[in-house]
Amino acid sequence: MSLSRRSFVQTLGVGAAGMWVGARGREGSLFGSEAVFAQGAPSPIILSSNENPLGCHPDVLAGVRGSFAEGGRYNYAAVDEITALLAKKHGVKPENVLIGSGSTQILRTSTHVFTSKTAGLTATIPAYEECADYARLMGHPITGVKLTADLRMDLDAMQQASKGAGLVFFCNPNNPVGTAVTASDTRTYLETLMKQSPTTTVLVDEAYFEYATMPGYATMIPLAVQNPRVIVARTFSKCLGMAGLRMGFAIAHADTIAKLKAWDGTNNVSIMGLMGVKAALQVPDQWVKDEQARNKAARDFTQKWFADRGYTPTDSQTNFMFINIKRPAREFRDACLKEGVLVARDFPPYEKTHARISVGTMDEMKKAVEVFGKVLAQPAKSAA
Ligand SMILES: Cc1ncc(COP(=O)(O)O)c(C=O)c1O
Repeated sequence: MSLSRRSFVQTLGVGAAGMWVGARGREGSLFGSEAVFAQGAPSPIILSSNENPLGCHPDVLAGVRGSFAEGGRYNYAAVDEITALLAKKHGVKPENVLIGSGSTQILRTSTHVFTSKTAGLTATIPAYEECADYARLMGHPITGVKLTADLRMDLDAMQQASKGAGLVFFCNPNNPVGTAVTASDTRTYLETLMKQSPTTTVLVDEAYFEYATMPGYATMIPLAVQNPRVIVARTFSKCLGMAGLRMGFAIAHADTIAKLKAWDGTNNVSIMGLMGVKAALQVPDQWVKDEQARNKAARDFTQKWFADRGYTPTDSQTNFMFINIKRPAREFRDACLKEGVLVARDFPPYEKTHARISVGTMDEMKKAVEVFGKVLAQPAKSAA
């Protein structure tokens, strides 16, 4: 199913095309239209952008504050220092690491370097939109792969659709649906593709790595450093609570990192973000474990609340959930916002039935389910 933009629009309808065209990577895009803030109304409970609701470790803030005096100098030495620290943390060499302004930069640069007019991008529908939107901007073809009925990656269909692609965006866990593929299935897919399609590179996006709790899920970093055609993208925006500091990175084979670096440059990040990462790398493992447990408890509580009422959640491995609310997401979202709870944008082709809801604190989720209950008790205005 190779799709030019026009045929993509025709295949999925205008709403679905909007997924690629209009919603590029803007986890916080709803903020722009949040009149609630402008009106000075009480802040809503923000469950729209998959952030850590508690923010970062206090040492990260101290690291950022400590960097201010360095703001007058270029950051080349700090980039080298933090690259080396990241490499050490992941058991790889500095030449296997590229820092980006959020993992967004890694996603964009990978799309830039590895797709072309003849070898496009393959990704699931839906998937985080950054790569597809960037491919579209460059006029490179996009092939979309539907999910299974339980909203998991259809690995056979993905295998077929990946042949001949320049880049495959393998979002694992997937945003927005939250489901994940096990390490053994990912390896099988990659090994088969490497044989079938000798010029295809695969970008494995592990933005929600720390939040995945299912048995058998694991990083592809060990494979990526060996195989020049596999890249892993990671971010400090999610579990580490640093979304506004814009720090992410790629780990890959040294030759692949060199190709990305040639386009990417090496000092696109601020000294504040770099020093935040330096501190984040020293945060005790227990802090991350506590955040994982906190997220899982609030996620389980909320998903059970929906499931008990007949609204099916997916098997979320992230800090958000994707729920069949049996009515259009917009209708649900607008009604929730009136009650002070902000949930995420539309995700075609599921915008008529599913809402994505980020995991807040347990306190926030307890308040939020009261609102969800009130909203869902009203009959749906439009058919799902
Ligand atoms: C799957 C996925 N990848 C990448 C990103 C980009 O994150 P950042 O640029 O903040 O690292 C996001 C943001 O929500 C995401 O959900």
